[in-house]
Amino acid sequence: MLPVTLDRTSGEPLPAQLAGQVRALVLTGTLGTGDRLPSSRALAADLGVSRAVTEQAYDQLTAEGWLEARRGSGTYVTATRTPTTAVAPQMTSRPTRPTPRPTGVTSRLDTGTPFFDPRLEPGWRRAWREVSVATPPPGYDDPRGLLELREALAARLGRTRGLELHPDEILVTAGTTDGLRALLPELRPGPVAVEDPGYRAAAETVLTYGREVVDLPVVETVSDLGDAVAAYVTPAHQHPLGRVMPAADRLTLLEAARRADAVVIEDDYDSEFRYDVAPVPAMARLDRGRVVYLGTAAKSVVPTLRLGWLVAPPDLHELILRRRTITHAGAAWPSQRALLTLLRDGWLDRAVRSARRVYAERAPRVAEAMTPYATLAGPLAGMYSTWLLPETDARRARDAARTAGFEINLLSTYARSSGLTGLVIGFGGVTDAELDQALAAITGALRA
Ligand SMILES: Cc1ncc(COP(=O)(O)O)c(C=O)c1O
Repeated sequence: MLPVTLDRTSGEPLPAQLAGQVRALVLTGTLGTGDRLPSSRALAADLGVSRAVTEQAYDQLTAEGWLEARRGSGTYVTATRTPTTAVAPQMTSRPTRPTPRPTGVTSRLDTGTPFFDPRLEPGWRRAWREVSVATPPPGYDDPRGLLELREALAARLGRTRGLELHPDEILVTAGTTDGLRALLPELRPGPVAVEDPGYRAAAETVLTYGREVVDLPVVETVSDLGDAVAAYVTPAHQHPLGRVMPAADRLTLLEAARRADAVVIEDDYDSEFRYDVAPVPAMARLDRGRVVYLGTAAKSVVPTLRLGWLVAPPDLHELILRRRTITHAGAAWPSQRALLTLLRDGWLDRAVRSARRVYAERAPRVAEAMTPYATLAGPLAGMYSTWLLPETDARRARDAARTAGFEINLLSTYARSSGLTGLVIGFGGVTDAELDQALAAITGALRA
């Protein structure tokens, strides 16, 4: 008799209950390889169930490879696990939010939370209603992304970034970092130069792909890339110093890339948020055969949409596309379909205009509060500004902000060998009142 008990009041079907219990007997070592099980008829009689129940359970476990039916002889255990290896890893803690905030922190003044205009909510909902009634493409569809979206993106990149593109040159990605993940395996072996200070996710992604990160200075002209196979840069708005890469430096970097047979990876994350002049054109315009262009919806829409776009020189484009096809990589269709509506309805243009107005008003407020205590690292643009300060002062200000309920990033966390210190103050994801409170806490600490 097998030590199993079936519960008729449970919602779980009897064959599944029986299969689960026999599986557990094998996993815990109660049943071992070669043990013979009672016949399905005998077991059904023992348990007081129909023979269909025991047959279904035996069939299931046979299909899974735990049991084997030997003709004319019976059913035997074929696989054994020792009790020690049968224990599944257990999460012991309660579920947590991905980045738990320090106690009392209510708002983040970070660089990754854009302003979202509540007046744009109806248009946002309309886009998702449209997704809900649209028919998804059958199968995996085009690994380059939705054709209509690529057409809309090509039109927009031409208009806003001076990039004249055929829709087939665009690969829709799940964001900037996804684009980088797609590119890295296609580059020849060698280190990747990443700005210092620079985008932490880019440096970490390069390391994750088993490549060395070399530090690319951001305030000097780069005329030699050494043995780097790529240089990751943010020319329109250096992250996090805010500087625009001057035209001459762009040309020098491209020349260095040509000599090193390297590519320039242009992370064009927030170039539309200039409030003094028109956005600086994309560096990719200067040499489409040398620059891999990465765009994102993280700043103009929301980061959680997980959408971006990649434009690579033809040889790399082909390699990336081939691998994305084989590995089923690509952006989720609902997000793509929603972005298509947001672009088509002019929602994205309105969102950018409205966020730009808010940032244009907040950036000078931050500057007015910070200028007496710190040095601005670059021109005012985008949704954050960076202030150079000794590390001890930066930490004191950061701690005071934290006590007041605000989380602010230290510049030192973006720096590697450059050793730059200060504060990176984001102002997209807070209200005006919260920004004033945070600034009061920061300047209070700096004054002390
Ligand atoms: C420099 C930089 N690039 C790109 C991104 C966006 O990355 P993703 O599109 O992967 O969300 C961010 C987001 O904060 C960023 O700061």
